[in-house]
Amino acid sequence: MGVSPEKFQKVVFLLEFVPKIFREHADLFKFTKKNNFSMIDIGTGPGTMLLQIENQLPKHYKEIIGTDRAETMIEYFDSVPKDSRITSRILDISAEKMPADLTGRFDFAFSSFCFGYVPDLRKTFKNCNELLKPEGETFFAWSIRSHIPEIYRSLSKIDKWAPYTSDYKNWKSLIEYEDPIGTLSDHLKAAGLEKLKIAEYEDFAFQDPEDVMLETFESQDHIRSRIPQIDQQMYKEEFDRIVRTEQIIYGQKPKIPFPSVAVIAKKN
Ligand SMILES: C[S@@+](CC[C@H](N)C(=O)[O-])C[C@H]1O[C@@H](n2cnc3c(N)ncnc32)[C@H](O)[C@@H]1O
Repeated sequence: MGVSPEKFQKVVFLLEFVPKIFREHADLFKFTKKNNFSMIDIGTGPGTMLLQIENQLPKHYKEIIGTDRAETMIEYFDSVPKDSRITSRILDISAEKMPADLTGRFDFAFSSFCFGYVPDLRKTFKNCNELLKPEGETFFAWSIRSHIPEIYRSLSKIDKWAPYTSDYKNWKSLIEYEDPIGTLSDHLKAAGLEKLKIAEYEDFAFQDPEDVMLETFESQDHIRSRIPQIDQQMYKEEFDRIVRTEQIIYGQKPKIPFPSVAVIAKKN
């Protein structure tokens, strides 16, 4: 079992938060005034969030493309009933090159809780910049604590799991930089994006029963499916142990801090 749209569907704490913070900044956007605007969602997952955001947008759009690097997510998204102008595409936003037919195509690039997984934020922003038309706008929200990569980093120190997780050996979450927001601003600038606003949600966190939290993490674990069947149970136990010891904070109720940002920017 690896990245799972069915399991992720049950994760509801973001479904209230993201539409709320999107509404909060809606006045900054100009793309909504354009007739036939074009939008891309990066890391769509099962698509539930995208459809909530689409509900908040004017209906004079030309197209909305939901994209994800995981085939399982795109297959799930394709099966969900939606407006015929909403289509899908497999896309890895951290890839070396963006597909030619997507380049310079969009008035608006949206992404919800995907950028915590990308290995190189600067490269990712550069790719986003390439996808945009001139003056194209962004709304990117994600947690600057990259929980899953941090778990992989811990697993990479254990001999048995190192072959699967070595890419994460030197992982650094944005929050681990001395000046996370300054670093983020530098990345945007280097990618050719003009920062309009970075909103910080330092206290955002989720509280769920422990088994729900473990399932939430499992639904996003893209390495699990590569582990040989015979070692799957041992991997799961190790993964869950790290979540419990390094990610969950026990107060009155177990809690996962999810300090987050929303980035509104524009292509020059
Ligand atoms: C936490 S889910 C968020 C899904 C949805 N945007 C939401 O807010 O409910 C993160 C999604 O990002 C996708 N993802 C991770 N890395 C990616 C990459 N490099 N390119 C595209 N999608 C990626 C994952 O497959 C997953 O579906």
